[in-house]
Amino acid sequence: MDAIHIRGGKALFGETRIQGSKNAVLPLMAAALLIEDVCMIENCPCISDVYHMQQLLNGIGCKVKCTGHVMTIDARNIEEDIMAGENVTGMRSSIMLLGAMLGRVGTITMDYPGGCVIGERPIDLHLNALRKMGVSILEKESCFTAKVRTLEGTVIRLPISSVGATENIVLAAVMAKGVTVLQNAAKEPEIVTLCEFLREAGAVIEGIGGSSLIIQGGHALHGIRFRVPSDRIVAGTYLMSVMGTGGHIFLEDAPIAQMRSMLKVAEEMGAEIDISREGISVIADADKRALSYLKTEVYPGFPTDMQSPLMAALSTARGVSVIEETIFENRFRIVDQLKKMGACIELQGNRQAVIVGVDSLLGCEVAAEELRGGAALVIAGCMALGETVVTNRHFIERGYEDICRDYQNLGADIYIG
Ligand code: EPZ
Repeated sequence: MDAIHIRGGKALFGETRIQGSKNAVLPLMAAALLIEDVCMIENCPCISDVYHMQQLLNGIGCKVKCTGHVMTIDARNIEEDIMAGENVTGMRSSIMLLGAMLGRVGTITMDYPGGCVIGERPIDLHLNALRKMGVSILEKESCFTAKVRTLEGTVIRLPISSVGATENIVLAAVMAKGVTVLQNAAKEPEIVTLCEFLREAGAVIEGIGGSSLIIQGGHALHGIRFRVPSDRIVAGTYLMSVMGTGGHIFLEDAPIAQMRSMLKVAEEMGAEIDISREGISVIADADKRALSYLKTEVYPGFPTDMQSPLMAALSTARGVSVIEETIFENRFRIVDQLKKMGACIELQGNRQAVIVGVDSLLGCEVAAEELRGGAALVIAGCMALGETVVTNRHFIERGYEDICRDYQNLGADIYIG
């Protein structure tokens, strides 16, 4: 029962509502830890990464409850400062609890958070920035202890605009003494959402949405009710699905303003995009154009999380496409699986892929190895003639609430088996 079966080779027609954002809600759960009060988070996606973060928060004394898509987090009593085990080592996002715990209790011992197949995913930028704020960090073989009496506001310039490091620094800085200026901050929408959440709770943050954030620490925070925006990568996944199969779909509640780069790419491939307040209508022909060159970039460039879904769609485009992956060192994992389905893709080192469009993909058994690559294999299954079986469904469930339900809404012949 850990596989997804798809009988593909037909256009997609239908509409589906886009779930709340995984990469937005996880930092908000960490931010709630800073608040000695109760927070309510609405439009929370029911995905396994949220469940694992909930377990981590409950393990240190929070009371986190989910009723449908509404989560309440009571962080009035923190009883533990140790975080270990699969929920930490298996989920990269656990690293966001570092900044929050230092801001709240001043100490944390935690296992090193998981890397994954897309890259080694170090945390040096996180640790170096926190050291500049006065944190002492003792690194051991498989875990580390971070301690600070009083976090000190300071000027921090990130060498690369890391999303997670930006989030950790913001979480620590709102509790620090004095002002923190963060330069070369990541500008992803998830950072904006985190800053808006904290500002509504009483924090003072300027420059939200830009690459230079000014955080005035020490303001008391209070519980709030907050709605998570829709997931731009889930919406982008379904966008690339119809680019692959052709058809006409409507993505209700899609976060349009956050999707400009991917909508532009879809139009370059030949899509007809109509935007309304309710969402995005996409009409596409299976006979789409190739992309002579596209590279993944930090926001507002084309997102690295969309690279595998795009590659799947381009595998039957008319012509030769080139994709350059500039963010992660090992994010072409699905190439071998797509080639099993008949795709013609050649890697040039670990940063560039050349995709020669073929007439069609052929269904077969393929294995998901990580979240977005797994979703891209489902796209390929919708495109392929015959039946495709995508195994290791659990990778996909980390970020997609119910990918079969969504694809069934879009007219795909798909089920869990
Ligand atoms: C976030 O990961 C997202 N995860 C990723 O989404 C996304 O791909 C990534 O940002 C880039 O947009 C969440 O938000 C939970 P980074 P994060 O720090 O914060 C290097 C998905 O599919 N780096 O911006 O880990 C790092 O190795 C996931 O939802 C260091 O060298 O990404 C990478 O090459 C996958 N040292 C680059 O920076 C550090 O201390 C960007 O990583 C930190 C990062």
